[in-house]
Amino acid sequence: MPSRHDLHPAPGPEGRVTRLIIMGPQGAGKGTQAARLAEVFGIPAISTGDIFRANIKGGTELGRLAQEYTNKGELVPDEVTDSMVRDRLGEEDAAQGFILDGYPRNAHQVGALDGILGDLGWQLDGVIELTADRDELLARIAKRAQLEGREDDTEEAIARRLDIYAEQTAPLTAAYAERGLLVQVDGIGEVTEVTDRIVAGLAAQLG
Ligand SMILES: Nc1ncnc2c1ncn2[C@@H]1O[C@H](COP(=O)(O)OP(=O)(O)OP(=O)(O)O)[C@@H](O)[C@H]1O
Ligand SMILES: [Mg+2]
Repeated sequence: MPSRHDLHPAPGPEGRVTRLIIMGPQGAGKGTQAARLAEVFGIPAISTGDIFRANIKGGTELGRLAQEYTNKGELVPDEVTDSMVRDRLGEEDAAQGFILDGYPRNAHQVGALDGILGDLGWQLDGVIELTADRDELLARIAKRAQLEGREDDTEEAIARRLDIYAEQTAPLTAAYAERGLLVQVDGIGEVTEVTDRIVAGLAAQLG
């Protein structure tokens, strides 16, 4: 795996703080790549889906609420998700930087994240968009459904999530492209190859 020094030849005493978003449709490999990038940069990978799943498993009030939506493939209400992300970014480890997976997912959340980061005095460094065609995505999700048995990997819920992604989430990349933050990466290929592509794209973006 490439080291962070490949990206940041002269980090400060604490290393450089890197704040990233990873976007892409269900099955594009966001979670897998986010974990690898977290290693490379020494930052936490923060996945809203994982936080919801942990709460569902733990039987918390947030989990009970989230499950009503996740099982159907619908988005959890924005105010719930926004405040969960605000709390998570306020935790100590996020001061080193972070990679956000699963948020923002709609135009409202883009604005909410701007507000959260503004309050913290932080700015994004890059937004990765992982791309893959629908056939590849469906094949990967079907495989994951067999391996992990995620409760929301039913045919209906998957179709709904892919539709919401196409309608509400995919258009958000244009806004980040306008801000000069977007790094588009082909998500097809070996996991390690894709990581190398992202790291190369980020090296150009982060300068
Ligand atoms: N930003 C968000 N806003 C609202 N709901 C969210 C958000 N992030 C996650 N969720 C809820 O959690 C569920 C699971 O999210 P998660 O990102 O893990 O799954 P996904 O869409 O299948 O993507 P992936 O294939 O990368 O796991 C979503 O279907 C949604 O109900
Ligand atoms: Mg995921």
